[in-house]
Amino acid sequence: MTQTSGITLRSGTAADGDAVRLLGDTGFGVVSDPVENERTRRLFSLENGIVALEGDRVVGFTSAYPQTLTVPGGHPVKVESLANVTVAPTHRRRGILRAMYTEQHRRTEERGLPLTVFTASQGGIYGRFGYGPSICEQRIRFDRRFAQFHSGTPDPDGVEMTAIAEARRVVPAIYDRWRRVRPGAQSRPEPAWDALFADHPRFRGGGTELFAFTHPDGYALYRYHRRESGAAIEVVELRAVTTDAHAALWRALCALELFDRIEATIAPDDPLPHLFTDPRLVHTTSLRDALWSRLMDVPAALTARSYLADLDIVVAVHDPFRAAGGVFELRVREGRAECAPTTREADVELGIDVLGSVYLGAHRIRRMAAAHRIRAKDEAVLRALDLAFQTDREPVLGWSF
Ligand SMILES: CC(C)(COP(=O)(O)OP(=O)(O)OC[C@H]1O[C@@H](n2cnc3c(N)ncnc32)[C@H](O)[C@@H]1OP(=O)(O)O)[C@@H](O)C(=O)NCCC(=O)NCCS
Repeated sequence: MTQTSGITLRSGTAADGDAVRLLGDTGFGVVSDPVENERTRRLFSLENGIVALEGDRVVGFTSAYPQTLTVPGGHPVKVESLANVTVAPTHRRRGILRAMYTEQHRRTEERGLPLTVFTASQGGIYGRFGYGPSICEQRIRFDRRFAQFHSGTPDPDGVEMTAIAEARRVVPAIYDRWRRVRPGAQSRPEPAWDALFADHPRFRGGGTELFAFTHPDGYALYRYHRRESGAAIEVVELRAVTTDAHAALWRALCALELFDRIEATIAPDDPLPHLFTDPRLVHTTSLRDALWSRLMDVPAALTARSYLADLDIVVAVHDPFRAAGGVFELRVREGRAECAPTTREADVELGIDVLGSVYLGAHRIRRMAAAHRIRAKDEAVLRALDLAFQTDREPVLGWSF
């Protein structure tokens, strides 16, 4: 289909299965088992992926899968998610990733999806393809023994210890309610639930099998670790549709008295530290990108989300990779936008990767301008844009793919 320096690209087929698995295991340094591999293929099918061949040897692979992602304002948008991109260590830096991505994004354009997203294992590669980090996640830990709940923290009933087979049955519906109101969160298909509850020993980090607390409006999946450094609880996933469910689940976790430390991944705006009399108890151990986004169709993406302030502005968007950039008139009234190409002079200029970074609300316009990534005509333009693009909730990655 596409020829690049002795490399041919084509769609994957079932016959590529073993070669793609060896390539992925080598690239990511894992040994996937056949059951796990089968689960991955139910989501990211070989037929929907692209293989790069030298002769008949598979030397590169990338796969794609459409998901529904919630954007600011609670609107569902169908997006393309990319995953599993790998090039053989024997064939790196010859342009194979670029060739596969060129073909993949051409296909996504053809499907008319306004956004592409992925989780990146390296931060320095994808800006050139128009991607910006668009969701942050915070790793935290705290010493449970010193956790005193604030007098104002509710102590609602409703949490139950739930056997994991029962959790598998009830948790997806709760997740689905949560992801519809949380920007950044995606729909989660059955194979992804199967993978989570399969709880492969490789993902346990030396801990126990999964345990669950459920609540009518939330759940916590966690495991126990008995390490030389002390006994700890790792919260694998906590989702709460209401603030009462959030407080109730954290109260249940903090009541696991034989374990000193609790570790979790939370959104930067998670209220957890403020449930306690001492918010400093909760230490951030890392803060990093969880998702990267690229706008494939600027007017379609910008009109899909809501805004917090009115706006009348002309934006010049530079796209170094595809032809999605241009000059656009963006008009917001009562939270909703109209956006169309214009010949008017731009008030503000930015790269399409920067637009990807601010799109879901994780990064502010003003911060990007201070980093010289956005050039606004004047302070009034910058302020108006900054206010409009703010969101009332931080985006959260629903599940990692
Ligand atoms: C990352 C990976 C896919 C790159 O594949 P590749 O075929 O060597 O990449 P290319 O030669 O097509 O490079 C494309 C561009 O990215 C740049 N690039 C590639 N790897 C890079 C890296 N590690 N850091 C910074 N830039 C990088 C190249 O310089 C090139 O830039 P240009 O086209 O603007 O000149 C490959 O190294 C790999 O499989 N790594 C292990 C698995 C992995 O990390 N996958 C990514 C998961 S998100």
